[in-house]
Amino acid sequence: MPAFPHLAQPLEGPRLRLKNRIAHPAILTLLVKNQEVSEAFLRYHANRAKGGAAMIVVEPVNALSWQTQHQAQLNVYDNAALPGLARLANEVRSHNCRILAQIQDHGRGNYSRARPDITYGPSALPDDESGSVPYPLSGDQVAEMIAAFAASARRLESAGFDGVELSCAHGHLFHQFLSPHSNRRDDRYGGDFASRLRLVQELIAAIRSACGSAFIIGLKLPADEGITGGIDLAEAKRITEALADPHVIDFIAYAWGSQSNTLHWHVPDGHWPRMPHVARVAELRSAAAGIPVMALGRIVDPNEAEAVLTAGQADLVGIGRAMITDPAWARKALRGRGYAIRPCVSCNTCWGSVATPSAITCDNNPALATPGEIDGVPAREQGLRRIVVVGAGVAGLEAAWVAAARGHDVTLFSASSKLGGRARLAAALPGAEALAGVYDYQGAEAQSRGVRIELGIKATIPDILGLAPDDVVLASGARMAWPADLLGDRKAMSAIPDLPSAIAALLAHPGRYAGTAVVIDEDHSSFTYNAVDWLAEHFDHVVLLTSRDTVARHEHRVARQGIIERLLARGVERRLFQLPDLRSEELEEGIVGHRQTIGPGTRRLIEKVTFLAYAAHREPRLELLAPLRTAGHRHRLIGDARAPRTLLHATREGHAAGLDL
Ligand SMILES: Cc1cc2nc3c(=O)[nH]c(=O)nc-3n(C[C@H](O)[C@H](O)[C@H](O)COP(=O)(O)O)c2cc1C
Repeated sequence: MPAFPHLAQPLEGPRLRLKNRIAHPAILTLLVKNQEVSEAFLRYHANRAKGGAAMIVVEPVNALSWQTQHQAQLNVYDNAALPGLARLANEVRSHNCRILAQIQDHGRGNYSRARPDITYGPSALPDDESGSVPYPLSGDQVAEMIAAFAASARRLESAGFDGVELSCAHGHLFHQFLSPHSNRRDDRYGGDFASRLRLVQELIAAIRSACGSAFIIGLKLPADEGITGGIDLAEAKRITEALADPHVIDFIAYAWGSQSNTLHWHVPDGHWPRMPHVARVAELRSAAAGIPVMALGRIVDPNEAEAVLTAGQADLVGIGRAMITDPAWARKALRGRGYAIRPCVSCNTCWGSVATPSAITCDNNPALATPGEIDGVPAREQGLRRIVVVGAGVAGLEAAWVAAARGHDVTLFSASSKLGGRARLAAALPGAEALAGVYDYQGAEAQSRGVRIELGIKATIPDILGLAPDDVVLASGARMAWPADLLGDRKAMSAIPDLPSAIAALLAHPGRYAGTAVVIDEDHSSFTYNAVDWLAEHFDHVVLLTSRDTVARHEHRVARQGIIERLLARGVERRLFQLPDLRSEELEEGIVGHRQTIGPGTRRLIEKVTFLAYAAHREPRLELLAPLRTAGHRHRLIGDARAPRTLLHATREGHAAGLDL
């Protein structure tokens, strides 16, 4: 009996035949180079096929010669990239995994604020992010475009692809035609419900006639786009009913939100419940005429995935971000080794990287798109050494377990009595709980690989050198710096704590607090806003002061949308363009002064303040560096100790150090 019988069950559709129910949905990786399959792109997909997925939908391709060409997306508009595509298809199919490509055009939907030279759309209405107004395609141009897309699908088929998914969601071109919010035409491609659907119907028909009878066509449809006058759940159901012809369609997936303030709905982060969309996917499935429906959205645990299928809420599960983090998600789940999955922590760093735009990254998969992410850390044959790692935050833990996996003798010093460093405090805050998956996984690996973990010991030079190490890794992290530019003389203002220390103290004694909490925010990262969320639940009122023109400046668009939504929902007062202007005598009375940074510099006061903390830049903890240098001992710096950055850099540098030792 397989560990998860429903996940393991093959799917036997007329064309869609899958060895199990686990699919990798379309994920833009930007690993393509010069519009051709690169080694990293091939490796990314080969690893997920080898890792047990039954179907991979490859990210959107450049299917039209006149589309805005993305150098990091595959050329399918002529034959130039065919050999690479064939190699990719061969490799993926050799693992009995189906391979599809996503057919799409962005239309006016632009993920960056920079306005492109020209975009195309159904109607001359502005894009939400860039404000660019598209050129409205004529009816003849739509027909021409459909023919070109069908020719590209045929080209994919000739390269060995099993099918295509039409991206009719996420606010892209086909979605723009489907939605009454963006389609105001009055020709055969707009005006009423039937006309809005025509482009997609004609496209399906054109691909069916261009490609062989076994060719798979899936649809990614909009569910609730969350825009007034747009597609809601009832409309999504009507669209499903109208398009669900089992003779032409092989599966349907759904995307939530759209190119607007609801964009973040499609990648629910840690502030959402797990699988937030599944119940409504089940509702839409009832309109799908028996066509297999793929559930998507924060499905990270095989037990939960199995429950979705057991309850008949969907026929397939799409494991997107969780399969970015662990390519062997399917294999581990199906073999009953779900505990060994390196977990997705729903941070959306992956989304932020491709929206930048740059190649995909993952906070909890430092080996992304390398052979090591599926085959494991390569053991070192010779030259095994004694290694001391100082600091059991994410960087130090990663270096320690990877070095031990290679065969080195590793001792890890942790000043704290618990593993995880800064990430552990972050995980204690609302919405970031899943971050524990990073250091819990590392801790389990460290233990099983035989790392000696010295907890609660602030390592000294004699402690370190007493072990006669061949190499020392300093991963001692960073602490928040005193922002003298903001707060002035440290001695005079010494009573003002930094936010991490202040929130840690409160978390130790949670309760209700009267008065106003004030946070001076020059940090602009999610940690600060998660702390503010917590304060908003425990204080009468919260004020966020920043000298910038916005909040969450260092977060990408989908994270920022969620942050602002929560600040608004919790009534957090945002005071922008403000610098603190503090006076000791006022502080004693619970009064915080601040001054506007532009214009006449008006001074305002916040009263009844019972909590005040600052969030600023961080500085490395380097107490051990100078004595190690003086002792002339071999050492290396990683993570925040090298330069204070993000979780991504911590796992990545820790991993690289572990491999390099
Ligand atoms: C980095 C990233 C890139 C994505 N790129 C695409 C894309 O190109 N086309 C698409 O239809 N969906 C895209 N998505 C959405 C996913 O296909 C999926 O719908 C979403 O991530 C929810 O599934 P998950 O919670 O399993 O990740 C992307 C998501 C992420 C995180």
